[in-house]
Amino acid sequence: MITGKPLFTAEQVQQRVKDLAARISKDYAGKELLTIGILKGAFMFFSDIVKHIQTPMEIDFLNASSYNKTESTGKIRIHADLRENIKDKHVLIIEDIIDTGYTLKYITDMLVPRNPASFKICVFLDKIAHRRVDVKLDYVGYEIPDKFVVGYGLDYENKFRNLPYIAIFKKDLK
Ligand code: IMP
Ligand code: MG
Repeated sequence: MITGKPLFTAEQVQQRVKDLAARISKDYAGKELLTIGILKGAFMFFSDIVKHIQTPMEIDFLNASSYNKTESTGKIRIHADLRENIKDKHVLIIEDIIDTGYTLKYITDMLVPRNPASFKICVFLDKIAHRRVDVKLDYVGYEIPDKFVVGYGLDYENKFRNLPYIAIFKKDLK
């Protein structure tokens, strides 16, 4: 383990993922989903949650970034757009964390004009105290304090993404 006590242990994370998946499966009963993971950060949450969602689905990914070390820049870059056409599909965005909200606002403004049948957002972590722009969230794993966290897909300079738990980042971590 790289730090003291995890903010959320791997077991807590997995339980919360199952709870979210159960709600999503219930809400989309009788429908089909197009589930979109936001890379890189959401890769682990995405691959865990889709295993527990009962709704038939297609999947796709959007590769976007905004962060520089531990600060949100507000300047969003799209490194790779979707491969699928989302028109008339029930789109569910899967994201690791929302902080200022700039990334998910940008993605919403980019995708909603493509006319999906519906558009919902699921984030695992919500740093609600640091929000700068309003974004409607449909599913939230945990609200967390305004601290920089790593693990479970989340990085500091592209490291620590592979940890199965979530920890508050400290500068002296290796
Ligand atoms: P926002 O645009 O400020 O809402 O930031 C969202 C993006 O910043 C997420 O997709 C994450 O990749 C990244 N991010 C925000 N907070 C953290 C954090 O505490 N640790 C690691 N990445 C973060
Ligand atoms: Mg991210």
